[in-house]
Amino acid sequence: PYRQETYLINGELRKWEGEFANIYSTISSTEAYAPTLLGSVPALGEQEALEALHSAADAYNKGKGLWPTMKVKDRIAVMLKFVKQMEKQRDEVVKLMMWEIGKSLDDSRKEFDRTVEYIYDTINAYKELDNQSSKFVQRDGVYALIRRGPLGVVLCLGPYNYPLNETFALIIPALIMGNAVIFKPAKHGVLLFTPLLEAFQNSFPRGVINILYGRGRSVAPPIMQSGKVDVLALIGNSKTAIALQDQHPNKNRLRLVFGLEAKNPGVILPDANLDLAVDECVKGALSFNGQRCTALKILYVHAKIKDEFIKRFAEKVDALKFGNPWDEKVALTPLPEVEKPAFIQELIDDALAKGATIQNKKGGERTDNFIFPAVLYPVSKEMRVYNEEQFGPLVPVKPFSNINEIIDEISESKYGQQISLFGEDPQELSPLIDMLVNMLCRVNLNSLCQRGPDVFPFTGRKDSAVGTLSVHDALRSFSIRTFVSFQNN
Ligand code: G3H
Repeated sequence: PYRQETYLINGELRKWEGEFANIYSTISSTEAYAPTLLGSVPALGEQEALEALHSAADAYNKGKGLWPTMKVKDRIAVMLKFVKQMEKQRDEVVKLMMWEIGKSLDDSRKEFDRTVEYIYDTINAYKELDNQSSKFVQRDGVYALIRRGPLGVVLCLGPYNYPLNETFALIIPALIMGNAVIFKPAKHGVLLFTPLLEAFQNSFPRGVINILYGRGRSVAPPIMQSGKVDVLALIGNSKTAIALQDQHPNKNRLRLVFGLEAKNPGVILPDANLDLAVDECVKGALSFNGQRCTALKILYVHAKIKDEFIKRFAEKVDALKFGNPWDEKVALTPLPEVEKPAFIQELIDDALAKGATIQNKKGGERTDNFIFPAVLYPVSKEMRVYNEEQFGPLVPVKPFSNINEIIDEISESKYGQQISLFGEDPQELSPLIDMLVNMLCRVNLNSLCQRGPDVFPFTGRKDSAVGTLSVHDALRSFSIRTFVSFQNN
């Protein structure tokens, strides 16, 4: 097992003598399901959580101004030192990502490389932002030296599905803007941070970044209840986000940066290029087994083409290869959340009881740690799969005859991230795009929904997000405009 008996608080990699949390993998190299013990991490509690908090607060407020007031070029040098050391850990991090969350070798490598690129892009965007936002202005004899500066102490909680990329999309902009950070990874995808601990320790001043392991419910509440957190940054579900926000004694002054749930629709119009629509919808709905907040989670198919679309779509889904992450050409892999197949099964059973049928031959086939994606049709508003985010291998399909039905459903939805539109006629598409872009945050024309490229704004309306994450926008999300003023008396 991969055992790492340290964690990072106040610039120290500490030896742990308490209880450990065991980390299992649901991947098996044999046919039979056998959870493999991968390693363990310290199961930290309230005491360590508060130490991390005090260390971050001191680094921000009492660190002799070392981090928040450090010169731009020096803070960039720290970031560069970190990313160069991180790059050396690629193989180790990729290996752990495959084992811990079952992401394919190719996708794990892509996630690592995308994250490194994100850090370099952030460094460049930071230089640009500092140039643009640093201004010397005067009016009516009052002079001001305006800058963009940090907010204070940031608590970051990461997700399991993109443990590296989504997490670094929070902590890197928070750090580069001069904030002090406490970070807790998700339950799955936690070991993969251990090879990076030294790079963090060697690069950042004491207390600027603290990395905690343990259950979210043990470490996050005491930190929030202290009232000393200035920014709560989280990628996950809204229930956790709201519960944590509520723990803050003065939650109205808390800056929030949340990436939450979505139920992104794919809409296939009667004149769509069906080959293209099928390909993009399969990738959009089922990449990484559908465990993406950006996944297509419901497909609306026009009545005129529904039979042909469903036939081709179902065949293509059945042709996806299931296997271990290192298998060649694997598309579907074991699920890290062991309870997920049972949840997906519940959604299927509910839909079947209310009139849907499974359209593909392999749909619903189960092993202990996997369920083959089912294509469910026709889905209706009374079904759980219509209302709940499946976040896994399941594709509900709903017919429509008039595009206004979809507009109404989107306006009633509690989510508001993005949509994929498949069609060819510019006369019909153009007013539709104008309308949809003001109801959601991104319209993807003849292509899947996605977050990337990471320089594009990533946000959502309603319950899908608070604040914007992207290379450029995140720098603003984690900062505030400040100035020094004087006047001629
Ligand atoms: O779950 C959300 C991820 O950020 C998805 O990223 O859509 O670019 O693959 P992606």
